[in-house]
Amino acid sequence: MTVAPAIEADAVWRTYPMGATTVTALRGVSLRVEPGDYLAVVGPSGSGKSTLMHLLGGLDQPTGGRLAIGGRDVATLTPNQLAQLRNQLVGFVFQSFHLLPRTSAVDNVALPLVYRGTSARARRQRAAAMLGEVGLSHRLDHRPNQLSGGEQQRVAIARALVTDPSVLLADEPTGNLDTATGEAVLGLLERLNRSSGVAVVLVTHDREVAARASRQIVMRDGQVVEQVVG
Ligand SMILES: Nc1ncnc2c1ncn2[C@@H]1O[C@H](COP(=O)(O)OP(=O)(O)O)[C@@H](O)[C@H]1O
Ligand SMILES: [Mg+2]
Repeated sequence: MTVAPAIEADAVWRTYPMGATTVTALRGVSLRVEPGDYLAVVGPSGSGKSTLMHLLGGLDQPTGGRLAIGGRDVATLTPNQLAQLRNQLVGFVFQSFHLLPRTSAVDNVALPLVYRGTSARARRQRAAAMLGEVGLSHRLDHRPNQLSGGEQQRVAIARALVTDPSVLLADEPTGNLDTATGEAVLGLLERLNRSSGVAVVLVTHDREVAARASRQIVMRDGQVVEQVVG
């Protein structure tokens, strides 16, 4: 039996109108994320990595080409259906952790479950268990400003995974962390990929880190110029 790709981009374009001109961020990118994959996206600043990640996660729509998330062509979905699909299938981790500042770690992690109608008690239980997975059982009631950068990123990873998504998209997740803390966060992502089978797509500038992925996607000027199988 063949398993459908978790995400499939087929000759995807993304242009932005800028006054009288257009900026082309992606020019015909094709990419498949298979279940359980571990992909690294590398390339210089401005090459379209973040634009691609936003598309893969359904945060944005292509202006050309076809994009399917969980087998559903995103062009056929209403904004509500797309939001639901995103909530079911995708988790995001960003460079700047994007946690709610006045909210405890456990409530930050529980937030994606609110949109599913999970009971408050079950949300807290699930969020606490997820924080345990990332080694933060002792920090449930800390607010982000009471946590270190590495701890905040681990909270963000727990939040991304609390809905049990098929794919975790991480856009330079170690960009605001010192080297040792960044290494620990990457080690955590790799462990979660192996243990839970969540597919990971990681944008990184670190060639050594990228070399540990099962596939490297090299981007330049809005195109995939090379795919290196690890
Ligand atoms: N909202 C936007 N409006 C106009 N241009 C944009 C927008 N977002 C990105 N771009 C342009 O698209 C290109 C790719 O950006 P991005 O995907 O952020 O690259 P990367 O993440 O690889 O640094 C850049 O030239 C950038 O300036
Ligand atoms: Mg970027």
